[in-house]
Amino acid sequence: PTVILLCAVFGYLLGSVPFGILVARVMNLGDLRQIGSGNIGATNVLRTGNKKAAALTLLLDGLKGAVAVLLARAIAGEDAAQIAALAAFIGHCFPVWLGFKGGKGVATFFGVALALSWPVGLLAAATWLIMAFALRYSSAAALTAALLTPVFAWFTGNGHIVMLMIVLVALIFWRHHENISRLIAGTESKIGKK
Ligand code: G3P
Repeated sequence: PTVILLCAVFGYLLGSVPFGILVARVMNLGDLRQIGSGNIGATNVLRTGNKKAAALTLLLDGLKGAVAVLLARAIAGEDAAQIAALAAFIGHCFPVWLGFKGGKGVATFFGVALALSWPVGLLAAATWLIMAFALRYSSAAALTAALLTPVFAWFTGNGHIVMLMIVLVALIFWRHHENISRLIAGTESKIGKK
């Protein structure tokens, strides 16, 4: 139990590192919270016009989730890996450093999904790509990919992560409530436009 608690705390702390803000600051792109949607994720970094910075944010926000899962699994097994996944995701969405006002969890979700089961993560990422190309809305692509992930987990023989995935999907939808309103109103910003 102590080691599982440690995995949760470590996962949270790792997840709470706001790479989008850090990347934007280091690359002199300004304060991300004053740009576009104000979100701290890769989609909003892209609104600065710097694709490399956006890709780096996506990579780092994903990696922190994957690292939390892989470390927890190596130290304490599969249950700890799932707890670390949830903790890292919560860390990204509610980081103590930003007064608990964090991101929407999409990149970190892909990172933990890949580390928990790479086929599930790959299917989710492929869904995001297809939907992003088709719709040009990052948020709608993320919501579709997230929604299908428990189904992907089930059909790839990863029934043990279905519950966790459903919890993460619910949190992703909650974190995207403003995007959902904008999508319905037709005012959501498209990828490639500022
Ligand atoms: O990953 C977050 C994305 O789905 C939406 O980001 O900045 O458009 O609210 P944003």
